[in-house]
Amino acid sequence: MQILIVGIGALGGTIAARAIRTGLPVRLAARNTDSAEALRRSGLRVSGIGGEVRADAIDVAAVEDYGKGDQFDVILLATKAQDALEIAPHVVGLLAPEGVILPIQNGGVARVLADRLGEDKILGGFSNLGATMVEPGVYEQKNAGHLLIGELAGGVSERVERVARALGRAIEVKVSSNLTGAIWSKLLINCSVTTLGALCSQTMRQYMETEAGKNVFRRTYEEALSVALAIGTRLEHLAVDPIPPGWPSNFAAEEHYESWVEAVIAFYGDIKPSMLQDFERGRKTEIDFINGYVVALGHASGMLVHMNATITDLVHQIERGVLQPTRERMNELADQTCERIRGNSI
Ligand SMILES: NC(=O)c1ccc[n+]([C@@H]2O[C@H](COP(=O)([O-])OP(=O)(O)OC[C@H]3O[C@@H](n4cnc5c(N)ncnc54)[C@H](OP(=O)(O)O)[C@@H]3O)[C@@H](O)[C@H]2O)c1
Repeated sequence: MQILIVGIGALGGTIAARAIRTGLPVRLAARNTDSAEALRRSGLRVSGIGGEVRADAIDVAAVEDYGKGDQFDVILLATKAQDALEIAPHVVGLLAPEGVILPIQNGGVARVLADRLGEDKILGGFSNLGATMVEPGVYEQKNAGHLLIGELAGGVSERVERVARALGRAIEVKVSSNLTGAIWSKLLINCSVTTLGALCSQTMRQYMETEAGKNVFRRTYEEALSVALAIGTRLEHLAVDPIPPGWPSNFAAEEHYESWVEAVIAFYGDIKPSMLQDFERGRKTEIDFINGYVVALGHASGMLVHMNATITDLVHQIERGVLQPTRERMNELADQTCERIRGNSI
């Protein structure tokens, strides 16, 4: 199985180094000739969970240098979401007849690509494996996580199992028969835990200590949940049940709801949001594929997604340098919710 990894950052570099060390036929695509040349000189080094590996001789080129004569059974897209959307149409021509592109970004990327390029060309996937890039060529694996992959239409196909077997020689890969449900269950967490933490520069455990944090979390999560269910998603149980007890309207179950929140905090409460790291580095975030994706689908199906729309707008303002992440942001969001409710009731 010929494999191309596009995007040799934190995840792509970590997976590539482990794949090359196990003898998988892996070639790498960097953004341009300069970054390819730098990686060729440095090779790849991974430390951390899973043990240290080095890959000194790597087959790497700029993505634009792949073309006629190159054919891949799997193209793993390990760029950020926006780059994945831009690069996928250029690399789809590199697929062997039964080949597939495997995007591993959170949120709406795989679905959007499948709509544009055809479901026969796109598998779904996301990563529970965490990694950071110390510098180009040097990576640290942060946990013993896995890639979860599957068919966007559901079920388990022979091609998914083939890809899982191949990549599974390098890192842990699990197959889901309900990958779209799993993507959405993770998206609900990304929309609430990750984005809210980034906006107020806190962990979930910290912002859930305030009433404002609890209200905004609930509203954000439940808007996204409503959209997921309205478009027919069968949500998948990941770390916690994706549907809070008592949802949508059983107030009698409030104490059960609070236990559910505790379970979310126990699992995700202390993680520094990756979007906050994007803010700190002045990088564009993936908000349009997280809360922004929920807003787009919500609007298309006539649903109320005010909180997610406001959050998406705030993130864009922080990206432009107009605003900064601050814990006050949570109070502003909570106030807005109250104002809207008052406004709606007049
Ligand atoms: N890292 C994690 O622990 C983790 C966990 C779960 C999910 N994810 C998701 O996985 C995806 C990748 O994350 P990451 O942390 O690995 O990101 P990253 O460190 O920013 O790596 C992305 C890499 O893609 C390269 N790239 C961008 N455009 C390209 C192009 N057109 N052709 C070839 N390469 C290109 C970037 O190069 P430049 O540096 O030149 O831009 C960078 O090296 C994201 O969607 C992220 O949300 C990451």
